[in-house]
Amino acid sequence: MADGVFVPKHALVAHKLTRLRDVNTPSPLFRQLTKEITQILICEATADLPTVPDNRETPLSEFSGESLAQKIGIVPILRAGLGMSDAAHEMLPMARILHIGMYRDEETLEPVYYYDKLPTPPNVDLALVVDPMLATGGSAIAAISRLKETGLKQIRFIGLIAAPEGISALRGAHPDVQIWMAGVDEKLNENGYICPGLGDAGDRIMDT
Ligand code: PRP
Ligand code: URA
Repeated sequence: MADGVFVPKHALVAHKLTRLRDVNTPSPLFRQLTKEITQILICEATADLPTVPDNRETPLSEFSGESLAQKIGIVPILRAGLGMSDAAHEMLPMARILHIGMYRDEETLEPVYYYDKLPTPPNVDLALVVDPMLATGGSAIAAISRLKETGLKQIRFIGLIAAPEGISALRGAHPDVQIWMAGVDEKLNENGYICPGLGDAGDRIMDT
């Protein structure tokens, strides 16, 4: 796997991703699987975060604990990223949520920006950008560029399925951004869809 790209070799991820891809999986189950895979990926993507000493007491004695040192932001790229952000927020309840609205033009495959609610300067130290699909990489690259414009320096990308083209493009544009994915597929097809992929993630999550 390319430098800076992490794909957990985990039996649960493989099992859940198989059901997520299945064309016969209905929307409620699709959302549930998206949530469960996201939570595994969040564990992986936060494993090395810095902690500070946090000394407290149990009912029996004092103990030396730890707390996360950084303020974390979860950044869903609308719409499909919303399918991952609640799951990430359950794992990181202290995190702030920062939205970026972006969709891919169906003809040109270029990202079209339509909304954000980003504080400048940023009120988080680390942004975890969540979007299920990394296809051409255009949406992720544009969203991360926008985050950097606000002054954010530490950014990680977490998604479900990537195409090799999207990984190369994102690593090329933002080499400082590490990537966690549940799977990396063979290719983009002639319509810019990840193949075998799972189809249109936003439509399957929102049941549109
Ligand atoms: C999907 C997906 C990514 C983007 C990936 O969003 O959720 O944001 O496509 O493609 P790219 O890597 O080629 O940019 P979509 O444009 O379908 O919008 P939606 O989330 O509103 O459905
Ligand atoms: N967006 C999706 O939802 N699916 C793809 O395969 C590519 C982009």
